[in-house]
Amino acid sequence: MKKVLVTGARGYIGAVATYLLLQKGYKVVAVDNFFTGYREPLKKFESKFKSKFKYHQADLNDPSSLKKVFSLEENIDAVLHYAASCLVNESMENPQKYFQNNVVGTHNLLTQIIESGINNIVFHQRALCMAKQSTFQLMRNIRLTRRIRTDLASE
Ligand SMILES: NC(=O)c1ccc[n+]([C@@H]2O[C@H](COP(=O)([O-])OP(=O)(O)OC[C@H]3O[C@@H](n4cnc5c(N)ncnc54)[C@H](O)[C@@H]3O)[C@@H](O)[C@H]2O)c1
Repeated sequence: MKKVLVTGARGYIGAVATYLLLQKGYKVVAVDNFFTGYREPLKKFESKFKSKFKYHQADLNDPSSLKKVFSLEENIDAVLHYAASCLVNESMENPQKYFQNNVVGTHNLLTQIIESGINNIVFHQRALCMAKQSTFQLMRNIRLTRRIRTDLASE
């Protein structure tokens, strides 16, 4: 049975995605910092889907809490990334918060994904359109990191 990790699973989109995956028979590991979103869906998934569903309170801005989740949860096949700050007005008033949560947080997550050898990710973050250049740089850095690692491994 395939195991999928969903970030932002307490949120609007993440909770729906989690439910659909569970219904289709996937195992789901939910990750959320519980800052926003709703508690009820996770409780319901837990009672309905039992051992197929687990959730962890972890923050993308705290690499040690992420590392803990990835070391507890082995054999993850894919990551669906929905954790984000995504209020348009707030992002205009406090862009630093959005850069930190959406760009740096995503970078931390991707670092952990690479370290765990996971090759499948769905990245669903409309809010990052605002930081197009940063995202582009981020993806370039990740490709570069992968290439460096491959080169080192072949040496
Ligand atoms: N809602 C929409 O109509 C819509 C449409 C297209 C794209 N999106 C994108 O989907 C993503 C999720 O949107 P949403 O509407 O579900 O938002 P939401 O605010 O309902 O959910 C986001 C979830 O992420 C969690 N979270 C935020 N920062 C975190 C962090 N650092 N670590 C761990 N968890 C964190 C929050 O606690 C929350 O549960 C966003 O990137 C958004 O841009 C949303």
